[in-house]
Amino acid sequence: MKSKDWLNRQKRDFFVKKAKQKGYLSRAAFKLIEIENKFKIIKKSKKVFEFGAAPGGWTQVLFDLNPNIQITALDILDLKFTHPNLKYFKEDFLKFNYKKIENDYDLILSDIAPNTTGHQSTDHLRISNMIFEIINLLDKILKKDGNFVIKIWKGSEEKSLLIKLNTKFKKVSYFKPKSSRKDSSEIFIVATNFLN
Ligand SMILES: C[S@@+](CC[C@H](N)C(=O)[O-])C[C@H]1O[C@@H](n2cnc3c(N)ncnc32)[C@H](O)[C@@H]1O
Repeated sequence: MKSKDWLNRQKRDFFVKKAKQKGYLSRAAFKLIEIENKFKIIKKSKKVFEFGAAPGGWTQVLFDLNPNIQITALDILDLKFTHPNLKYFKEDFLKFNYKKIENDYDLILSDIAPNTTGHQSTDHLRISNMIFEIINLLDKILKKDGNFVIKIWKGSEEKSLLIKLNTKFKKVSYFKPKSSRKDSSEIFIVATNFLN
């Protein structure tokens, strides 16, 4: 194993162990904590919608950071987490009837990801298509000045994605959390102040 691979493996194991110690359902929890530390968008939010929430690592962190928050979460898989302020829909986001929910979320999070093929550009196109679909839904659910966080795997569609986000938000930033593997093409985009 190359020393870089070894270091990355060690780092991965560190966050897996840390997640276990803290009782988090996934190591993804740390990525959201880092996003909050930098952008301060969770503690001030009242209503959050999560695309691709299972098993619930981010959901847990949201309640940890802001115990009064109201969350609506959607995934095709089961959420291993319940809370009185959590509404969960086990559905495909493409088939979901958004009339069932309110239109005044102040934070939309997407950690949604398709099953990977291992072929980087195919995986990038798949996750990008999902994100473009989600952006088209924002007008229905995100309130004016609301914020939006997405996970993407880097690739050719990023430019058009950024152009689209820049027409809809006051500010759009890239963020690579320390808890995200360096060798992963994963990156987060944080878009603030929705111009609805
Ligand atoms: C990286 S995981 C999310 C991890 C989560 N943020 C956590 O901290 O536990 C990505 C999720 O996207 C979900 N997903 C993929 N396609 C979906 C679809 N069409 N509709 C809803 N959820 C989907 C997967 O089932 C998976 O649970």
